[in-house]
Amino acid sequence: MPCRTLAAIAMSTAFLISGGTCAFSQSPASPGARPWMNASLSPDARADLVIKELTLAEKIQLVHGIGWGPLREGAGVPPDNNGGAGEVLGIPRLGIPSLQQADSAVGVRMAAPESRYATLLPSVLGAAASWDPEAAHLYGDVIGRELRAEGYNQSIGGGVNLARDPRNGRLFEYPGEDPVLAGTTVGNLIAGVESNNIMGDIKHYAVNDQETGRTVVDARLGHKAMHESDLLAFEIGIRIGHPSSVMCSYNKVNGDWSCENDYLLNKVLKGEWKFPGFVVSDWEATHTTVKAALAGLDQQQPGEEYFGKPLMEAVQNGQVPMSRLDDMVHRLLRSMFAAGVIDHPSTPRFVVDPFKGRDDAQHIAEESIVLLRNEHNILPLQPASLKSIAVIGAHADMGVMSGGGSAQVDAPGGNAISPGTPTQWGQAVYFPSAPLKYIREHAPGAQVRFDPGTDPSAAAALAAQSDVAIVFADQYMSEGGDAPTLALPNNQDALVAAVAKANPRTVVVLITGNPVSMPWIDQVGGVMEAWYPGVAGGQAIANLLFGTVNPSGKLPITFAKSEADLPHARVFGMTYNTANGGLPEHWIAEEKKSTFPADLTEGVRFGYKWFDSEGKQPLFPFGFGLSYTSYRYSDLHVDGAAKSATLTVENTGQRPGTETAEVYVQLPKASGENFRRLAGWDRVTLAPGERKTVTIRMEPLALATWQEGTESWSWEPGSYTFSAGSSSRDLPLTVKADVR
Ligand code: BGC
Repeated sequence: MPCRTLAAIAMSTAFLISGGTCAFSQSPASPGARPWMNASLSPDARADLVIKELTLAEKIQLVHGIGWGPLREGAGVPPDNNGGAGEVLGIPRLGIPSLQQADSAVGVRMAAPESRYATLLPSVLGAAASWDPEAAHLYGDVIGRELRAEGYNQSIGGGVNLARDPRNGRLFEYPGEDPVLAGTTVGNLIAGVESNNIMGDIKHYAVNDQETGRTVVDARLGHKAMHESDLLAFEIGIRIGHPSSVMCSYNKVNGDWSCENDYLLNKVLKGEWKFPGFVVSDWEATHTTVKAALAGLDQQQPGEEYFGKPLMEAVQNGQVPMSRLDDMVHRLLRSMFAAGVIDHPSTPRFVVDPFKGRDDAQHIAEESIVLLRNEHNILPLQPASLKSIAVIGAHADMGVMSGGGSAQVDAPGGNAISPGTPTQWGQAVYFPSAPLKYIREHAPGAQVRFDPGTDPSAAAALAAQSDVAIVFADQYMSEGGDAPTLALPNNQDALVAAVAKANPRTVVVLITGNPVSMPWIDQVGGVMEAWYPGVAGGQAIANLLFGTVNPSGKLPITFAKSEADLPHARVFGMTYNTANGGLPEHWIAEEKKSTFPADLTEGVRFGYKWFDSEGKQPLFPFGFGLSYTSYRYSDLHVDGAAKSATLTVENTGQRPGTETAEVYVQLPKASGENFRRLAGWDRVTLAPGERKTVTIRMEPLALATWQEGTESWSWEPGSYTFSAGSSSRDLPLTVKADVR
């Protein structure tokens, strides 16, 4: 960990460093002097040995942040600050380093102010679309190794909020609508982060499923439904990833703020799941001292209004027992020991390897892009038969869009569409991986011309003169707001329609944070969903368009035809109340410092479960994705006791490919459920003509129901129906079995 220069230290009078030296200039003392440095002891024992040495003031110092720090101009920055969103000062006299927390949802944030570089990965939603736990692990590995190279010791990424509403502004940071796929993806991602001796995090706990009025919305949902949906994603993610911390969210859940919600924090997280790490508040999501401390919050971020002096006084006057403060500190220290950040501190010695980062990002992007439509095999494009290609829209001549907010990664060289300009909050940032360049490389003999797409008739004219038109359409999304509708913004539906009318050999490449509606779907030849594809997005998209890579991604989220088909036609709080001067409900609540309810009456029935149980036809179903080859499924067998399914997949086409075989379950009648649940899957790589029999482990909790009476999971008696195939709506194989 670097010490800042003397000048920086002199400027920062607000932070005094014990012993007049910075945290990492001390040589580690011998284990005899510091018995907690004995690595053969358990993290818990080591934490307790440190706690014995701590003064009350030091304990308090460990349970809150240093303020807004580098996030806010003018805020104090301690000398050892590493430039991340959060810092907790360490205890140098005992060799406990400061906690240097970095936002890192899709790559390390805020590299530019420190003149560093960080890899932009594809959306987490894209990682989920790969259905590949290894890709998710690699995703976390990229983040972990770059955090380490840059001197951080904790990631505060790990978003796993479910896509209850496909208009949620942060869906690109989250792994989709299914709790098992989402939990598995984020759990492996966190494990990848932690494989670098970096502390991982999972967030935003819980039911923080919309951005509209996120600090004033009260999400209301029964305990059973919560356990079988939002909480299940966290439970699986924590089980697989062992994150050091859980970040509690801004919203209320059933009337209590998440960060002082006894049910969520004490009862479920620390009680039922026995989570040994610490609960950190989202930034300014702490509302009280005593209530929050007793309800299970362990660390306030970013400041100390509640967990600084007021907590010290509450401990001194007995409102918060010392044992509870010790528990908070224990949870932090044991997590630091367990993750290895004390034994193996990150000392920035290297420049991040941008080439390895780009290769890894490209690999994940190539597994994540989903081919949604391919009429008359318009794709893959055959360069030999193409004399002219029109590339249209979305700045495809300059780069690919990225998602915003605290997940924003800084683009090398600045925003590719306005080079040299710094990244601004709320402004779409493009990364310099221009699809046009890579399309040209794949089709050296063709005339490839670009039209910006701002004038649909000009774009249509170019398309009419070209053998094929590739229209790029994008949608900027960021934390703090949701999409008002499912429609593509900026007149892009009209653009696609005009181009497709001029040339039916039109392929649409979507670069979006969220699912979008496609009123032009029947007019176009092909559609690819590339999410935000990351720093090598242009290369990855071109490789799929031309078949260098065979698409294998499958949707981790349902694409609806229109808002009318969703459980709620409007996002909660976006409703306008004429009695209140026509302002949206969330504004009123924010203004009046009150709350508004989000009654999640759909319970667990959102996404594909909603469409299936309501008998509605989606635009594209969950789990769907095409390939340039074809597959046949056969021989499904289920072992109910082992909770595993065996099936055979055959590649019946002409190209090698990777198929994700999906297994769904319909619970026995007693469950009252009239929809299937995703139970398990496997990615199967097959040469043409090859067949493989695979055994798929099913998630036991996907087969279970949460009982409110006993507050525990159980498996219903009776016959379960298992189905397997290539999507939630294409399940050629079915068997019945009991589950014990
Ligand atoms: C976001 C968190 C983020 C934090 C720190 C909050 O606004 O909700 O996800 O980690 O800011 O930047």
